[in-house]
Amino acid sequence: MFTDGLENAPKWTLFLGHFHPALLHLPIGFYTVLAVLEYLDSSKSGPRIGKACEIVLNYTAIVALIAAVLGILLALPGGYNETLLDRHRWLGSFASIFAFWLIVLRSWARSKRRNGFSVPYHSALAATLILLVVVGHDGGTLTHGSGYLTKHLPSPIKNLLGMESARDAAKGPITVKDADVYQDLIHPIFEETCIQCHGPDKSKGELRLDSFELAMLGGELGDTIVPGDPEASELIYRLHLEIDDDERMPPEGKPQPNEEQIAILEWWIQAGAIESGLIGDLEIPETVKSAMIAQLGEPAEAVAEEAVPEIEVPMLAWEEIESEIATLEQEPNIDILRVALNSPAVRVKGPFGDNKFDDEALAKLAPIATNIVELEIGFSEVTDKGLVAVADMPNLEKLYLQKTSITDDGLTHLANLPRLRYLNLYGTKVTDDALEHLVGLPRLKSLFVWETQISKSAAETFQERKLEATGVKAWQEEIDALKAKINAARILVDTGIETAD
Ligand code: HEC
Repeated sequence: MFTDGLENAPKWTLFLGHFHPALLHLPIGFYTVLAVLEYLDSSKSGPRIGKACEIVLNYTAIVALIAAVLGILLALPGGYNETLLDRHRWLGSFASIFAFWLIVLRSWARSKRRNGFSVPYHSALAATLILLVVVGHDGGTLTHGSGYLTKHLPSPIKNLLGMESARDAAKGPITVKDADVYQDLIHPIFEETCIQCHGPDKSKGELRLDSFELAMLGGELGDTIVPGDPEASELIYRLHLEIDDDERMPPEGKPQPNEEQIAILEWWIQAGAIESGLIGDLEIPETVKSAMIAQLGEPAEAVAEEAVPEIEVPMLAWEEIESEIATLEQEPNIDILRVALNSPAVRVKGPFGDNKFDDEALAKLAPIATNIVELEIGFSEVTDKGLVAVADMPNLEKLYLQKTSITDDGLTHLANLPRLRYLNLYGTKVTDDALEHLVGLPRLKSLFVWETQISKSAAETFQERKLEATGVKAWQEEIDALKAKINAARILVDTGIETAD
């Protein structure tokens, strides 16, 4: 009955099995209701509801049996952590069989006495409830992966429980140069989008991606990762399939890696699927480098978001720009993407390759300027002059200008963008003076100036000045003042007992 890894499990078994996650909540609820009713029934002053208990118990047995059978069907094709699955199946089966045993115990107890506490029955019921907690937790881990419940636990509590990982605790984004190829770049991509199904709890297609060694071992089809040959690698092949293709990875409806992440994975395999090495030490093509910067540089959502006054320039409604966008889409060098179905915000890209994006293309975006939140025109032919158009994009949050010919002068046009939080100037000719134009940007959170004329000391002064501008200095002074108040409020209580120092 407990077989798994059954290659050709009939389709109907899976069809029914998929109802397990929905149905299993019935026995859990019924058992809980039963416990409450039994408690009331056996307490001295409670209502006499023995008959109701009996009815609920009978239904509990039925739904528990159905849930268990469906669970067994669901597990037939395998692909779960075997130890955990085994435990879940055994304990789940017990929890459902126990319901029938409880029926026996109960009728036996009630044949002796119409109500009141019965040691065998009530303790068996309590034990079953405890068992349910374990079964439920294991089942949750099988579907959602371990750590699901605690994933969004606030950091201070995690710290208190000693749960923070080394990298989280280290705080702050690492610089691109010092990042390790596998640990900092590749692994996080797998973790974000694949490990849920290819990790310790579930290993679909017999593939695990939670460590370098396991990833290299590959899945049941083989050739998961062929070092030096992305085209022959099953992993890359799957990432490029249409989203509704049955073999597409991750499957439709699951969080997808973005284009940058896919480009990084491809490069990594091309470069021989390197196990470790600092990015700063490796030969990396420009396009991939900027993808890496995007991947590593994205800071966690700003904590102090609220501290910045909101300057609202409303976006045009989708209906108002829809036809403009259709016209712009005709241009070979403009790519427009709606960010989400429930928002009129758009992302604009100037594609690489022959159809270069230039100042003229940038100027054409004027009719939809208020709705642009991301503008990716790195590697394009945009110049300082063209950036005038960007000054009119009040909702712009991310701007990619890497490897363009822009200089300090061009940045004067960016000085008043109220929402800009990400600016990539990698490989441009900007100098220390450029920073002068950026101090006033209220929301700027990350700035990439790799391979520019900007000196380290100027960058550090800039960081300091931004801190001052945000008012962090003032907050620090307030904290110090409050600390002094706390100290002043302390009282001394001398017990005369010496402390063991
Ligand atoms: C929601 C679950 C899910 C997620 C998320 C997921 N996969 Fe899969 N994957 C599967 C299933 C199920 C199979 C087996 C069926 C098949 O081969 O299509 C599979 C199979 C594969 C295979 C073929 C393994 C073999 O040799 O048979 C590869 C390669 C793969 N996945 C890569 C990935 C990558 C890379 C990611 C992340 C970017 C990912 N998957 C995310 C469910 C998932």
